[in-house]
Amino acid sequence: MEAKALCGTFSPLTRPPSRTQPSILFKMETKNSILFPLKKLKTNLSLRSDYRRMGIIVDGLVKESDQMEETMEHELKRKRVAVFVSGGGSNFKSLHQAMIQDRIHGEVVVVVTDKPSCGGSEYAREKSIPVVSAPKSSSLPSGLPAVDLVNALREFKVDFLLLAGYLKLLPVELVRAYPRAILNIHPSLLPAFGGKGYYGIKVHKAVIASGARYSGATIHFVDEHYDTGRILAQRVVPVLVTDSPEELAARVLREEHKLYVEVVTALCEERIFWREDGVPFIKKRGHEDEYC
Ligand code: GRF
Repeated sequence: MEAKALCGTFSPLTRPPSRTQPSILFKMETKNSILFPLKKLKTNLSLRSDYRRMGIIVDGLVKESDQMEETMEHELKRKRVAVFVSGGGSNFKSLHQAMIQDRIHGEVVVVVTDKPSCGGSEYAREKSIPVVSAPKSSSLPSGLPAVDLVNALREFKVDFLLLAGYLKLLPVELVRAYPRAILNIHPSLLPAFGGKGYYGIKVHKAVIASGARYSGATIHFVDEHYDTGRILAQRVVPVLVTDSPEELAARVLREEHKLYVEVVTALCEERIFWREDGVPFIKKRGHEDEYC
């Protein structure tokens, strides 16, 4: 990524920075790190060497300021993500594309599946992403038991687990090993139409049968039960009078793809804020006190 120019507020200066010339360039140092606004702070650093030591490149006429206010940035590590799939994997694909295009500061380092031949697993293999089968069961004897799966994810140095159409309940060992680090996407406005048995087209059939006028997508942190973890984000869509379950599913899925990318972008930029009562919110980028 190229060097990024930031204009700060300087006061007082022996000479004001030129309008056309950026005062300070904050430079991207490595492929796997990125700089993000951290906070406004006051500093009396004034020498080029001081900035260089901090990894900041001085360009132009900034100097001799006793009290300089500037937006500092900190390096953010690219997050390592495991995606769990059981089906077509359209959410996985949209997340992966967003990572490839650097819209999400993360990387899918492994895919976990209980259906090694599902569309999501095939896509992973096409993209040379390692695929791990789990859990071990009579229908999947090669699958990893819970403890081995935790160890495998540690080997991959995974930061976050993203469930994208994974139909199995996660083992308790895994949930405990990754507190506040596992997300799931569900195709209804939880807590309605969630829980055991509410998956795939069944969700949309139940929504239509209920007469609900709105449905949508929910992204929530994962606990040891189906669909009961803390809600992080939701997106609403209308339920139309003529809707078939498939039409409603398609409308919700379009929103899922956008919502999951937005949420994982925030997750990888460490923009999740946990309110005192344990409810998570997303901080708006660059606005420390605004949430969505
Ligand atoms: C999505 O509707 C998601 O909400 C649910 O399973 C479906 C997965 O679809 N958990 P895809 O495999 O991502 O296309």
